Amino acid sequence: MRQLWIVWTLGILTLQECFTGTEYNGVIILEITPQNEKEVQCLQNILQSWLLDIWKPLQPENINVKATVRVRIPSTALQLVKEDLLHCSQSLEILIDNVKHIAGNKTETKETRSKKSITEYNYTTYHPMNEIYDWMNEIAKNHSDLVTQHLLGLTYESRPMQYLKISQPSVRHKKIVWIDCGIHAREWIAPAFCQWFVKEIVQNYQNDQRIRKILQSLDIYVLPVLNIDGYIYSWTKERLWRKNRSQYGNGTCYGVDLNRNFNVSWCTHRSSTNCSSNSFCGSSPVSEPETRAVVEFVESRQSDIVCFLTIHSYSQLILTPNGYSAGLSRNYNESLKVAQMAASAMEKTHGTKYRAGPFSKLLYEASGTSQDWVHDLGIDFSFTLELRDNGSHKFTLPEDQIQPTCEETMAGVMTIIKYVNDKY
Ligand code: ARG
Ligand code: ZN
Repeated sequence: MRQLWIVWTLGILTLQECFTGTEYNGVIILEITPQNEKEVQCLQNILQSWLLDIWKPLQPENINVKATVRVRIPSTALQLVKEDLLHCSQSLEILIDNVKHIAGNKTETKETRSKKSITEYNYTTYHPMNEIYDWMNEIAKNHSDLVTQHLLGLTYESRPMQYLKISQPSVRHKKIVWIDCGIHAREWIAPAFCQWFVKEIVQNYQNDQRIRKILQSLDIYVLPVLNIDGYIYSWTKERLWRKNRSQYGNGTCYGVDLNRNFNVSWCTHRSSTNCSSNSFCGSSPVSEPETRAVVEFVESRQSDIVCFLTIHSYSQLILTPNGYSAGLSRNYNESLKVAQMAASAMEKTHGTKYRAGPFSKLLYEASGTSQDWVHDLGIDFSFTLELRDNGSHKFTLPEDQIQPTCEETMAGVMTIIKYVNDKY
């Protein structure tokens, strides 16, 4: 029997929001598993005639019997598409689910930790993914005047990638600052910072003139954990796991380095075509659902995004483009100036030394990074931040360093955002 699952994020969206389609939050993902050749054909025809965005497999030609097809549709088209799909099938199951339900991962260790309310949330420990999901729900619920939660896409293992939009209601058309954390699974201080950042904004925006001014003309979008499957894996199976968890080579190897998977000089520098490598660039540019979710968002809001920040650890660096070549990037001088301002603000906080400069020079040459792809798209202020430390603990930064690291990073990030805000 054909099954059609509509995975629907009712947990975070009202129905009305779903159908207005003005905001990107109207993402609906359909999963369909054709049961025979006729159904495959029917599906191919419909998907092609609607020009739908097929997530899995990458091409409609590759749709096979009993293999799940994943399609993203604009929420506004749901009714029409659904009707068409119903023509393909006599019997279909529609599962309307909410985000929390599909987010659940009972195998995650520490799942049983007692739930605490958001007011008691401990920002100075690391949190497993289920606690971060709960935290996102709570912060959006408790600060609904400022913070809303939206779906960006699904991970390879079908977990919802949610971001928080920090926005003060206004009739003004606002520009966007993007911050993502945790594209590399093992860099746990990054998601800790994203959470810290949101906490600082919600706690202080009413009294802090600097934040108020920024929020008058900018919305800030925060994706606390980009590589959710990998993050969970780093909690449950392998602390130093870096990549996502997509399967390659018939299950003989796992994981693409998502920060090598963007379509910019793809797979040319410090990337591998071998799936067992820690810097496997994927089967093609943007082959991974996580990469694709970010790309689709950035492309859809391209003209509004004025600043893109991607948070990593470790090495204590503020990196300007490019990673893929040693050549100087467009607006290098200004980018460097901003990065240096951020580095000195960070250093002032607790005396920790941060260096500013081009990615390729201070770290290594690497192709396919999100920062470079976004910058080449035309977004002038695109930075990678490598947080603490400098190599003593590497990716396993002790918890007693979370607070000072977040405090200094807050100073750096606010410096960058303020600069961008003053400029636009
Ligand atoms: N977050 C960095 C990355 O994206 C790792 C930085 C630390 N490694 C190093 N070789 N310094 O690869
Ligand atoms: Zn990294």
